[in-house]
Amino acid sequence: MVVGIIGCGNMGTALARGLGTPVLCSDALPELALRLAADVGGEALSTNAEVAERSDLLVLCHKPYQLEEVADQVGGRAKAVASILAGVPLSALEAAYPDTPLLRLMPNIAVEVGRGVICYVRGGLVDDRLAAEVVELFGRAGKVVAVEERLIDVAMGLIAVAPAYVALIAEAWIDAGVAHGMRADQAGELVAEAIAGSAELLLAHDLDTLRVRRAVTTPRGVTAQGLAALERAAVRTALQDALDAVIGHLG
Ligand SMILES: NC(=O)c1ccc[n+]([C@@H]2O[C@H](COP(=O)([O-])OP(=O)(O)OC[C@H]3O[C@@H](n4cnc5c(N)ncnc54)[C@H](OP(=O)(O)O)[C@@H]3O)[C@@H](O)[C@H]2O)c1
Repeated sequence: MVVGIIGCGNMGTALARGLGTPVLCSDALPELALRLAADVGGEALSTNAEVAERSDLLVLCHKPYQLEEVADQVGGRAKAVASILAGVPLSALEAAYPDTPLLRLMPNIAVEVGRGVICYVRGGLVDDRLAAEVVELFGRAGKVVAVEERLIDVAMGLIAVAPAYVALIAEAWIDAGVAHGMRADQAGELVAEAIAGSAELLLAHDLDTLRVRRAVTTPRGVTAQGLAALERAAVRTALQDALDAVIGHLG
């Protein structure tokens, strides 16, 4: 399947790296497309129309407000379209790309290292063969999960923002370690490994969060003290507020 990417910014680049396949690509800034093609293989093309014409799957990685402008340039040449545009529903994609098989995807930037999460919604014209090909393709960049479209903004508020949240938490945690005498690079390595390992452990235990917490929380022990401090700092409310803010912003 020949993959075409329109928009070679942060997500277009991360996705192309995660897919691990040569791509055809274009960007309003030609140097970005040239850099991506040099990075992952394939070809930087000078027009979005040519990328659409020569690809089997056109992946829209530009900004959401550029939907109509790009669709006009593509002008009905796309064989199939996958959009990662946040907050742009299938109905708007169908209006911009009529009579075209469409998928709406919501990835996070961990696709770059093959550990992304990619939620997707299938449009009406997508047959089983195309759906299977797209799931296989994006599966190279992470875990692909079908969701109902009514939940895709929730999915965004859980996954697309996650690398930034984890980075913020890691930074604060490292600073705390530094305040207690550890070097930042050493604390950083420990924190990153602890976060990655804890996520693996949760997955291995069927996401039974209580079981994992109980396993490390002994009566009056250190974990109990730390958890109580996090509860006093309203960590649950903070995460609820963060999701509310994301959905409110998209709504
Ligand atoms: N970043 C994330 O974590 C994330 C997660 C999920 C979904 N998304 C979605 O991914 C999309 C891209 O986000 P991003 O963070 O990668 O943004 P970005 O870094 O700004 O990349 C968008 C790229 O598209 C280019 N572009 C603009 N108009 C174009 C046109 N007419 N033809 C070809 N290229 C054009 C932009 O060029 P200019 O800068 O010159 O306009 C820019 O290089 C957005 O729709 C966003 O909703 C992002």
